[in-house]
Amino acid sequence: MVNAKHAILNRRAIRAFKDTPVSDEEFRSIIKMAQKAPSWIDSQPGRVVIATGDKLNRMRAVHQQLNADPGIHTNSDVPFVPISEWDSESQFNMTTRGATGPQIFGAEQWTQMKGSQSARLFNAPAVAYLTLPKDYTPWSLYDLGAFGEAIMVAAQSIGVDSIPAFEFIKYPDRLRETLNVSADREFIIGIGLGHADEDAPINRINAPRMDLDQVLKIIK
Ligand SMILES: Cc1cc2nc3c(=O)[nH]c(=O)nc-3n(C[C@H](O)[C@H](O)[C@H](O)COP(=O)(O)O)c2cc1C
Repeated sequence: MVNAKHAILNRRAIRAFKDTPVSDEEFRSIIKMAQKAPSWIDSQPGRVVIATGDKLNRMRAVHQQLNADPGIHTNSDVPFVPISEWDSESQFNMTTRGATGPQIFGAEQWTQMKGSQSARLFNAPAVAYLTLPKDYTPWSLYDLGAFGEAIMVAAQSIGVDSIPAFEFIKYPDRLRETLNVSADREFIIGIGLGHADEDAPINRINAPRMDLDQVLKIIK
């Protein structure tokens, strides 16, 4: 177990995992710790389904097949928003500052690498799917974000790597069917859990952050 500072600073999105499994005991420990995240009047709206083993491999196969079909994009529960529709500063961060993948590998190779890893769900041995009730309020989205970060930091604290990804929840109808989740829950995000393949080139990405003074103002 490492301290919070170490876990926060060492977490990064992993896009290639080794086959090494994560145990049920570790899953329980991670989610138990993450339940300490705050929520509006302690409403605790988030639920977690962790898929692993055969169940996840079945979903992986479905995912690979759907991703390969150019006629299918996504029918995510939270609508997909193309980069061009985000605010200008976020667009700059996504296309310029955060473009470390294309910068290291070249645009074409990066697209190919990311595409093939995404299609196989980054080879994650487990995915934690985070859901909210269908009629959730915007505050529950805030709460689920806090819960998600707590899950990733808790995982890091016990040596489990992660990636939060839209990729995991692109096809929620197939997830509901495969994971037996009722229609009154929406899939908001998936978090891949496992152990990083440190030799995989795609894991060399280190996403830069804005200067502190661009995001922080202290007013007295
Ligand atoms: C809501 C959300 C969705 C994301 N979806 C994806 C995704 O579909 N594919 C992917 O490769 N990374 C995805 N990421 C990971 C981000 O690209 C990553 O967190 C960001 O570039 C910062 O890098 P870091 O987490 O390594 O610090 C997502 C992150 C968040 C918070």
